[in-house]
Amino acid sequence: MSDIANKILFLPERASTFADRVDVLHYFVVGTTMVMSAGVGLAALFFFFRYRRRVPNQTTEYVTPDLKTEFLFVSVPLVFFLAWFAIGFRDFTWVTTPPKDAMDVYVMGKQWMWKFAYPEGPNGVNVLHVPANRPVRLLITSRDVLHSFFVPAFRIKMDALPGRYTQVWFEATKPGTYQVLCTEYCGLSHSKMLAEVVVLAPEDFEEWLKEQQRGRLQGRQDALADTSLVPPVARMAEQGEKLAGSQGCLKCHTVDGSPHVGPTFLGLYDREEKLADGQTVRVDEAYITQSMMDPGAHLVVGYQNVMPTYQGKLQGPETAAIVEYLKTLRTANVREASPEGP
Ligand code: CUA
Repeated sequence: MSDIANKILFLPERASTFADRVDVLHYFVVGTTMVMSAGVGLAALFFFFRYRRRVPNQTTEYVTPDLKTEFLFVSVPLVFFLAWFAIGFRDFTWVTTPPKDAMDVYVMGKQWMWKFAYPEGPNGVNVLHVPANRPVRLLITSRDVLHSFFVPAFRIKMDALPGRYTQVWFEATKPGTYQVLCTEYCGLSHSKMLAEVVVLAPEDFEEWLKEQQRGRLQGRQDALADTSLVPPVARMAEQGEKLAGSQGCLKCHTVDGSPHVGPTFLGLYDREEKLADGQTVRVDEAYITQSMMDPGAHLVVGYQNVMPTYQGKLQGPETAAIVEYLKTLRTANVREASPEGP
């Protein structure tokens, strides 16, 4: 599978670790489908001619198929289709399981732009900077309608849903600039909802990040000097802590491990929780966000459904900030004394 084959077949360039495997599967699917359909078509043609009616009222002799031939006809295609499944399943598991050490970036789609926010660093609109050769996890949400985040060169595509987080990860393999497209029809300027991923060499990325943070520090000092300036956004976790206070989260959730109206925030992130419906869930971005938007949907066992919804009250960046705050309260060893009964 060379780059030349990709050029001839109009496939985009390959710039992530997924790209090769996705393309291999693509060629395998196209190749086997072509061979199979050609086989069926040619066999049909052959039978048309071989057994055509040559004289009026001619009847063809009755053919009893022999078991071996039939077995061959069924098993050969089956092997190919099972191989599809095997390759597809292996790659699907790979692309849907972000590595633990991945760098998180929050992505928010809105009509008609993409916003990016780094937990420790800057925000950006329509340009996402990432380092090469390092896994990056995107936590994607939407502020308004359905969008879809698509980077052809990375072979990744993920829906952006309002009030919910979806995730996708990738590892870029070479520095460069790659196109991002919205692939969910989202209104008038859908076709112009474009962005870029700028992949930098790891040391260039560190440099870029430092520069951004210096800029923000400068901005903060300016803001202190001149109160008329809008203060720059604080680190997401700090912003989240403030929101948890101002939105009333901390009235029902403690941060010291003791149970209250709701589960304590201490050690909540990444914990396994038992739900009232008998399922267990790992408390991740998706679960936390859903709990803010639709608190009754997946109640933790032992708690009552008394939390108000924050749908419409918290926007994407704010829920992301609260998630980042909860991440700072992650503790590997703290176990909450879980309350019994409803
Ligand atoms: Cu956003 Cu189409």
